[in-house]
Parts: sequence; structure tokens; C-alpha cells
Amino acid sequence: MEKYIEEAAEHFKKLYAEQLERVARMEQAGEALNFKELKPVIIGMCPGDGIGPVIFKEAEKTLKYLLKAEIEEGKVEIRNIDGLTLENRLACGQTIPDEVLAQLKECHAILKGPTTTPQADSGVKNLESANVSLRRELDLFANVRPVNVPDKQIDWTFFRENTEGEYALGSKGVEMPGKLAFDFKVITDAGTRRIAKAAFEFARNNHKNHVAIVTKANIMKKTDGKFLSICKEVAADYPEITVTDWYVDIMSANLINPDMQSKFQVFVLPNLYGDIITDEAAQLQGGVGTAGSANTGSRYAMFEAIHGSAPRMIAEGLGDYANPCSILKATEMLLRHIDMADKADKLAMAMAACEKEGKVAVTGTREGNTAAEYGDYLLEKLNEM
Ligand code: IPM
Ligand code: MG
Repeated sequence: MEKYIEEAAEHFKKLYAEQLERVARMEQAGEALNFKELKPVIIGMCPGDGIGPVIFKEAEKTLKYLLKAEIEEGKVEIRNIDGLTLENRLACGQTIPDEVLAQLKECHAILKGPTTTPQADSGVKNLESANVSLRRELDLFANVRPVNVPDKQIDWTFFRENTEGEYALGSKGVEMPGKLAFDFKVITDAGTRRIAKAAFEFARNNHKNHVAIVTKANIMKKTDGKFLSICKEVAADYPEITVTDWYVDIMSANLINPDMQSKFQVFVLPNLYGDIITDEAAQLQGGVGTAGSANTGSRYAMFEAIHGSAPRMIAEGLGDYANPCSILKATEMLLRHIDMADKADKLAMAMAACEKEGKVAVTGTREGNTAAEYGDYLLEKLNEM
């Protein structure tokens, strides 16, 4: 028994020091890129696993169509990065093989399909989630997830903290077999300040006047308590914005309460609550297959679908019927990020037109259209605009 306690104490000491080093790195964050001056803007393309390559193909087609002139003029380079597949990750025995990480770091923005994380009991090497690892390696601290349902006056943007909370040390817990297990949750001042600033800046720049802070500070007193108090501190610099604070349980009820839905605009929340709540929100919009996600940091940015690689769909032979709308929304966010708002708007309008007409509908089943049929129709719409 004593041995376990001592080992755990040693382990915790190391984690503490590591996290303090991370804080020090955060406190001297790099400068943001100026996309107007960059030439070429390098966009890294990672199709991913499972349904990833199926939906990714449609995003790639669309991106190349919208950026045709810029690619020809050498203003934009689309760069394929092949090694971020489960096969290669397992072959290298690394979540993100060194070579792939080096390639990703040469890009200014990354479009990524969902990647599979092997389950702990699947018999293959127990790799960490590629998402979690990429977010950490590239310090992509802001996970921005918009959800829109015009009929219900829902126009929400979630700012999920993307590098800390339960995720920072999720694979570094301790256990005494047959007795107990601990995991660790870590929230830092610097980490909270930067996500809160991102949320309030977004609100200010987009004429939003309400930011909701979501925690469970009544229970997780140290970590969520810190998150809440730092967010409130940051809020003081934005006096024109109304700030409300909520516990995550009641917020999950509010999101499906028709009397409350239209009252919310921008949300800021720690990592795990953000993970859960954004799937719920996406479901209101038509499912996780319809929601895009931006992971941004001070230097890098990665855009992806909010869902996973759907191995079940592949096993059932339904891969071709996967909905590409999520990754297309991510493509729209990427275009906005690289300062091409006109192209992003065009894509958003074409997607809205497809939805309104309802001629092509991807349902994830054989009754619906395939991803490719949707992608082709979308190109037709873009052509008409
Ligand atoms: C997400 C996903 C990831 C997460 C998984 C794939 C690790 O659910 O992006 O929301 O938990 O963050
Ligand atoms: Mg999730």
C-alpha cells in the first residue's frame, strides 16, 4: 500500500512541474499570423480514418474549387499530409509520427478528417487520441463551435477551452488495482485567460452582447472556481457585454428549453463540459454530422468535423452515406480564418441553399444521398452563384 502512495506522490510531483512549465510557455505565446502578408498560405490536408476520407474528398473538391485562382497564382498551396492514418500511426507506434508533426508545423492551417483512437481493450497499441495530442502539440487552445438553427432563433458560438481540464492529464492518472484510481484535472490562470479573451473578443467583434460562462464551480471548487473567477476578471474589460454564469447541468437543460434557447449567444467553458455540451447543441442543428469545429492557437489552426471516424458506419457498409456537411462547415471556418471571408460566405450560402431546397439530403442511411452526391450538387450551386 505504502509503495503505491509513495509512487503516486512522486508521479504527482512530476506532473506538477510539467504543468508549471506549460504555464511558463503559455505566458510567452507567439505572435498571430498575418494572412494578408503570407505567400503562399499553406493548407495541410489530412483525410483521417473511417468515414474521414469519404467526407474529406468533398471538402477538398470544394476548397480547390473556391481557391482555384489563388492556387494557380501561387497565393495558396494545398499540401497533402498522408501519414496521419491509423495504419501509419500504429506502424510508427506514435500518436502523431514525428515526421507528420514536422510537416504539420510547416502549414499555416490544417483541414483534418476524423481520426480513430484505438480502444484500450482492442488488442492494438493503446495510442492517445490524435485530436488531443494535436491540440496539445500545436497549442490549439480555442475550440470554436458554431451552431445555428434559424427557425428556433438559435445562433450560438461555443468557445471550449481545448488543452486543459480533464484532457491535459487524461492518460496520466494513477491506480491501485482492485482498490481505486485517480485522474487529474488542471486549470490554469493563463489557459483560462486566453480562452476567455478569445470569447469576449469574438463577442465584441461580432456584435454579440451576451457571454455565458459554464462550469460546475459549486463542486469543482479549485479548478472550475478558478475558471469562473478568471472569466469574470476578463469580462471586466468588456463592459458592453452582459455576462451570466451557469452550472453545466442546468445549461444542458437550457439548451433544449424553447424559452431559453434564443437568449444565448456566446459560451465559454472548460474542455470536458465543452465536449459534451457541443454535441448536444449540434444535435439541435441536425446532428453531429452537421457541425464544424475550429481549433485555433496563437500560431496554428486546425479545422475539423466535431464527430469521430464512425467505425460502425464503415462496418455496416454505410461509409459512402456519411454526411460531409460537418467538414464543409469546417472548411468555411478555415476560409474565414485565412482572411477569405467572401469565399467563406459563398460556401455558407451555397450550403444553406442546398438545405433549403432539400433536393439532396444525406441522412447517414441508404435512403439518403451519398456524400459525393451532396458534394457534386454543392459545386453546382457554387457555380450558379
Ligand atoms: C471532439 C471529440 C474529441 C474530444 C475526441 C475524438 C478525442 O469528441 O472533438 O469533441 O473528446 O475532444
Ligand atoms: Mg466531442
